Amino acid sequence: MNKGIIEQAKTVLLANYQPDGFTLPCQGLYPFQWNWDSGFIAIGFAHFDMAKAKKEIHKLLDAQWENGFIPHIIFHTETDSYFPGPDFHKSYLHPLASKKYKSTGMTQPPVIGFVLEEIYRITEDKEAVLKFIAGEIDKVYANHQYFYTKRDPNNEGLVYIYHNWESGTDNSPIWDDIWDTMSSPEYNFERRDTSHVDPSQRPSKREYDHYLHIIEIAKENNYDDAKIAELSPFLVQDPLFNSMLIKSNEALIKLYKRIGNNQDKINQLQKWQEKSVTSFNDKLFDKKLGAYIHYDLRNEKPLRFVSSSSFSPLYANIPSKERAEILVKTMMDKFGNENQYLCASFDPTDERFNPKKYWRGPVWVNLNWILYKGLKQYGFNDIAKRIKEDTIEIIEKNGFYEYFDSRKEMHADGKAGYGGNDFSWSAALLIDLLES
Ligand code: DGY
Repeated sequence: MNKGIIEQAKTVLLANYQPDGFTLPCQGLYPFQWNWDSGFIAIGFAHFDMAKAKKEIHKLLDAQWENGFIPHIIFHTETDSYFPGPDFHKSYLHPLASKKYKSTGMTQPPVIGFVLEEIYRITEDKEAVLKFIAGEIDKVYANHQYFYTKRDPNNEGLVYIYHNWESGTDNSPIWDDIWDTMSSPEYNFERRDTSHVDPSQRPSKREYDHYLHIIEIAKENNYDDAKIAELSPFLVQDPLFNSMLIKSNEALIKLYKRIGNNQDKINQLQKWQEKSVTSFNDKLFDKKLGAYIHYDLRNEKPLRFVSSSSFSPLYANIPSKERAEILVKTMMDKFGNENQYLCASFDPTDERFNPKKYWRGPVWVNLNWILYKGLKQYGFNDIAKRIKEDTIEIIEKNGFYEYFDSRKEMHADGKAGYGGNDFSWSAALLIDLLES
């Protein structure tokens, strides 16, 4: 193994770190603070610079709205190198939006609860880190309260996302079925992402029309949750998003127990947790596919596709041991062919699979990290080992890219890394995989 790789990963993180106390996911392509990126970045920093890990989390939570909502992008700086920026999103339309920071009016998978637990696991100075956590944890609790009271209109314990950018898996082929139900206008706008990255690796113009159309509807309704639940053409119960929430519930329960004196919050978290896990297993598991799937709440229909999100419930301890066996068999049958690196982001046996295009097939380091941890928890140690080794190998061969071709044959010349380079969470989570 390349011994200098941890040093290289640290260099990437430090180069993307900003004096204001947060880290860019990637220079040029993503010039602000992103919600779940910050969570994964903090895990990497926790291994060698805990002050920066704490700042990253504190800065994100500082942008929380008065209703507990935490935005997906915080626009700390002025730049026109990203579209759509603050002038498009207009977060101030919501009466409880942060007065201090401009942001988007959508969120991202809620990772911060389990990130707090991870940094507690990593640190040698447990007392100091627990003190930091005690000062931040109620903000994360308020965020979960927001989800369960505002994003679960049928009181199922499963929260919805109203935009594909909230899923984190931005242009997954799963959303194609939803775009087919929409008649979005053709907007005139200037993309910036395609001036940083090969357009064949990014979403299409027509997909961006849909992305903007959903935001226009939310803005017309001042980002009001009840109105969005009623009117948004995109309303989905996403297994990755809900797994991250459930894993974070579990982490908050453990951390509150360590901190002490928070029995009411623990009781509430346990109630949410029980209901969520039961509904998740009842509603989101597709027996025929042998995998967890997305549910389209707007059109009341399951979206019957297998993606890397389908396996993320392992990390949140959602499946029974028996169901976990079925899930892992599906993963290995569809994604685990010897010619493929684990784990493609979308089913390689499906005709919509595209191993070069963003979330339509490439391997992502954050999902691999989630799956590695989940597989280990259930004792699938050999497959966990393969995921870890595959992750290290693709980074060693290509560099700290945003995503990677899943086909092994493409890696011979070190050009199978796509999207942005020197990508922060690829560096941060590699450090955690190698140091833990
Ligand atoms: C982008 O601009 O593609 C971002 O990932 C949205 O979060």
